[in-house]
Amino acid sequence: MIPNSVIDSIKQRCDIETVVSSYVSLKRTGNHLKGLCPFHSEKTPSFIVYTDTQSFYCFGCGAGGDVVNFTMRAENLDYVSAIEALAKRAGVALPESGDYNGAERGVSRQRVLQMNLEAAKFYRNMLHDERIGSPGRSYLMSRGLTGAIVSRFGLGYSPPSGKMMLSHLRSLGFKDDEIHTAYFAGKNDRGYYDYFRGRVMFPIIDVSGNVVAFGGRVLDDSKPKYLNTSNTPAFIKGKTLFALNYAKNYCSEYLILCEGYLDVISMHQAGFQQAAATLGTAITPDHARIIKKYTSKVILSYDSDEAGVAAANKAIGILEAAGVDAKVLKMEGAKDPDEFIKKYGAEKFSSLLRDSRSKFDYFLENISAKYNFDADEEKIRALGEVCKHIATVYSNIERDIYIAKTAKMFDVSAKSVANDVELQRRRASREQSRQRKEDLLKVTSGLGDLVNPDYARIPRAAKTEEDILGMLMLHSELSAVEVDGKALSEEDMPTELGKRILAFILAITDGEFSFGAMNESFSEGEISRAVGMMEKRRNLSASKETYSEYVRALRAENAKNNAHSTFSVKEILEMKRNQK
Ligand code: UTP
Ligand code: MN
Repeated sequence: MIPNSVIDSIKQRCDIETVVSSYVSLKRTGNHLKGLCPFHSEKTPSFIVYTDTQSFYCFGCGAGGDVVNFTMRAENLDYVSAIEALAKRAGVALPESGDYNGAERGVSRQRVLQMNLEAAKFYRNMLHDERIGSPGRSYLMSRGLTGAIVSRFGLGYSPPSGKMMLSHLRSLGFKDDEIHTAYFAGKNDRGYYDYFRGRVMFPIIDVSGNVVAFGGRVLDDSKPKYLNTSNTPAFIKGKTLFALNYAKNYCSEYLILCEGYLDVISMHQAGFQQAAATLGTAITPDHARIIKKYTSKVILSYDSDEAGVAAANKAIGILEAAGVDAKVLKMEGAKDPDEFIKKYGAEKFSSLLRDSRSKFDYFLENISAKYNFDADEEKIRALGEVCKHIATVYSNIERDIYIAKTAKMFDVSAKSVANDVELQRRRASREQSRQRKEDLLKVTSGLGDLVNPDYARIPRAAKTEEDILGMLMLHSELSAVEVDGKALSEEDMPTELGKRILAFILAITDGEFSFGAMNESFSEGEISRAVGMMEKRRNLSASKETYSEYVRALRAENAKNNAHSTFSVKEILEMKRNQK
């Protein structure tokens, strides 16, 4: 754990208004600031920053918290990394060797990051070492990389023999098990040995500038071609993109997503600095969400072989689900972007980018590869699949364009394509309304509120509970007030979440309530919910009298609920109707 005193001093220096302002343009209205929410898309601002409580809340999507929560969401960082990022910004030094990450392996993230930085320097020095580095240097040269790009990416070389890295890290005071955890040492029955040997080394740098991992490529055709750092306390593969530290500054129009380290480096060398890559894994929903923070359009530039096409296909779906528009680059005459640029030049690649096909063209191409149109039956099935796809498109204009294209490609009349699409749309909308009814039922019976599943079962009591918790967050001294001879306790709280939040508030002995401290034991959704409770109370009274009234009301509700045990779905639906 990072000591609270350190967190406090970081928060004191990171004023929420200043931090948020570097992401969102804020306008002052009354006591607070207002802007467009960075966490969901909206046209009228419902995102509020409160300078007095140093918190934010979006009335549109319910996101909320303090400056740490904001940084977590905005930069897609975990709690500890968000604190680190803010510390860096504020110039506060974090305890160096403190084991506060809570990593299972007992090695802290901070420690691994230090080791990584030392390792990056070591590999780089080895590459430039007259004697040791020469195989690495000639390999990189043979791949057409300039000295400038080699140093921009901090490339290095791991010596082929023995334990040079191991002894280097030992000499800096790192212990064998730490070195092992950080993936610099493998272990066999004769002890530890260097994990990366005789490879050109690619440091992987996160968006805050930390070296989080390495990939190492052999210099010949031997296998495995690459070795990579696996997950460590400082690195999660499925949440990291290679070169995003650079690409993030060049991708506002679109990001180019590649498969390989060398593709990305070649692209940057050719002037396409908006290129990044996943790390030898298929794109994950986490990757897609991270990308969405920097751009809303991706051009996939994967290998042109069958595996690459299949991967691109999958990637489209994942990116779309995260709200990122995806296009695919069609590359002929080269197996990957690196080879393409070398063979045909940057100009040609630029024109490929311009021609990158829309999702629909790409979809059609895949259909025509999948089915044999000469056989009527296959053609009909193919057409069915296409119509179903077009039916999911929301815009009328877009649908018309696709219908025309389809008619042309299948050599049938646009009218009959349009009819089939209509049919599919009606079918889908029936299915949707059935689904909506089901969802409504789930929500009203309490199964749908994932943050507080108890809420819908006892909405009146739960609402009162939220009011009381909101008052307590704003005025923690109220918790001492005795109502009818008894101060509020966990027993009074009708929902599990309510009990936990109250326990958290009552445990505060040293001053003010803060959302940051909740990160240890509450989820992001729960914290947002808590902020919501507070913000909804902000402009309402919180006198001793009001508070007592609410506590009494809550206790009365609880008594009623306990007598009835619980509501039936029918009763809940009726209550919902009455509320409206
Ligand atoms: P590629 O085989 O396309 O490699 O794998 P590349 O980067 O284009 O390298 P060259 O051009 O052949 O030298 C794409 C990515 O998949 C991961 C790496 O991240 C690589 O950049 N990979 C590949 C591995 O992790 N391990 C492997 O053995 C192979
Ligand atoms: Mn390649």
